Amino acid sequence: MKDLSRKSFQTRAVHAGERVPPADYTPVTTPIWPTVGYIYESMDDLDAVFAKTKPGQIYLRYTSPTAMAFESAVASLEGAEAAQAYGSGMAAIHAALLAAGARAGTSIVAALDVYGATFTLLTNLFTSLGVDTRLVDATNLAAVETALKETNAIILLVETISNPLLKVADIPSLAKLAHRYNASLLVDNTFASPYLFRPLEYGADYVIHSATKYLSGHGDVMAGVIATSTENKNRLFDLNKLTGGTLGPFEAWLALRGLKTLPLRMRQQCQNAQRVAEWLEKQPRVARVIYPGLPGHPQHELAEKLFADKGFGGVLSFEIAGADRAKAFRFMEALQLCLPATSLGDIYSLIVHPASSSHRTLSAEERARVGIPEGLVRLSTGIEDVEDILADLEQALESVS
Ligand SMILES: Cc1ncc(COP(=O)(O)O)c(C=O)c1O
Repeated sequence: MKDLSRKSFQTRAVHAGERVPPADYTPVTTPIWPTVGYIYESMDDLDAVFAKTKPGQIYLRYTSPTAMAFESAVASLEGAEAAQAYGSGMAAIHAALLAAGARAGTSIVAALDVYGATFTLLTNLFTSLGVDTRLVDATNLAAVETALKETNAIILLVETISNPLLKVADIPSLAKLAHRYNASLLVDNTFASPYLFRPLEYGADYVIHSATKYLSGHGDVMAGVIATSTENKNRLFDLNKLTGGTLGPFEAWLALRGLKTLPLRMRQQCQNAQRVAEWLEKQPRVARVIYPGLPGHPQHELAEKLFADKGFGGVLSFEIAGADRAKAFRFMEALQLCLPATSLGDIYSLIVHPASSSHRTLSAEERARVGIPEGLVRLSTGIEDVEDILADLEQALESVS
C-alpha cells in the first residue's frame, strides 16, 4: 500500500509506519526483526526467493535476520562453516539426531550419563520410533568401539563435559573411532562452551548447545543451536521448515547479546568453580567432590590437554556426607545466595538436585546405573565474588550437620 493519505483513520492505524524502505544506515547492534512475513517487489521476485535463486527472507518459521546474526556469531566462535538456531537445546539435539540420519532401523550409541531429557529422548522416544540406542561409558574407548561395531551405529552422541557427573570425553579419539565405523560424532558442548573447547576442530560433525546456558548466560532466554558444516546446515534448515523448532527473533537477540560476554563470564565462572571445588574437598561434611579441575578427577589430565589451561568449566557436583534426598533438600533450602533453580551457566550461582530435577525422568534403577545418588547436588557457579559463594555454602553445610 503506497499512499495511505486517503485511507481511513482505522486503516491508517493498521498500516502507518510499516514497510518503510530499508534504511541506508548501519546500526551498531543487530535489530530485532519480529516480522512473520515479507513483501517483494513483484510476484516474480517472490518466486525467485522461494526458489533460492535470489537471496531473501520468506517466513519466520524458516528463520529471521536476528536468528541468522546469532547463528553467524556461534559459527564464528565454534569455528564452524554454519550454524542453525532452535527454540531450545532439546529441539537442537532432536534436530541433530534427525539430520544425522536417525530413522527406524538405525542405531545410535550415546554416553550413558547424558542430560536426563537427552537420555529419555533416546531411550523412550527414539526407541519407540524403532531406533536402537546403546548407552555406554564414553570415557571407556574400548566400550565405545565395541558398541559401534556391534550395533553398526550411524551416530555417536556424547557431551564434552557430562551432566551432572562431569566426565570429560576424549573428543579427538571419539571422532576417529566414530569415523572409522562410519558414524557421525554429535557433541553436546553445552558445559564446555567454545570458550573452553571447540569439538569441530577435532573432527566432530555436529556441535550442539543448550544456548539457554553459557552462550546466553543470564537466565532469561531459552535457545539451542547447532554448529556444523554448510552441507549439514542446509539439511538442518530444510528439516526445521517441517518440524518448526525455530528460535524466535526476541530470543535470538537476547542470546546474541549474552554471547558477547561469554569469555568474560566463563573465565570468572571457571575460577570460581575451581576455588569452590578445592574448598569443598576440605570440608568434613562433604563426602565427594566431582570437578575436572581437581587432580583426583579421572579425566583431569585429559581436561588439562583439551581445555589448554583456560579452566575446567563452571559446574561441579558434590555429595553431602550421609545425605539422603531429605538432607540434600534441607541443604539447598538453607542456601541464601546460591539459587536452587533449574538451569546452569548463568551469571547467578545455581544449584540443583539432579535426582529430582535434571534426571527426574530416569527411573531409580536407571539413576543407579548412571551413578546419580540421592545425596548429589550440582552447583553452577555464577560470577559473584567467590568468598560470598563459599560463605553461603559453609553456613548451609553447618545448618544440616
Ligand atoms: C547438557 C545439556 N544439554 C541439553 C540441555 C537441554 O537444553 P534446553 O533446556 O535448552 O532444552 C540441557 C539442559 O539442562 C543440558 O544440561
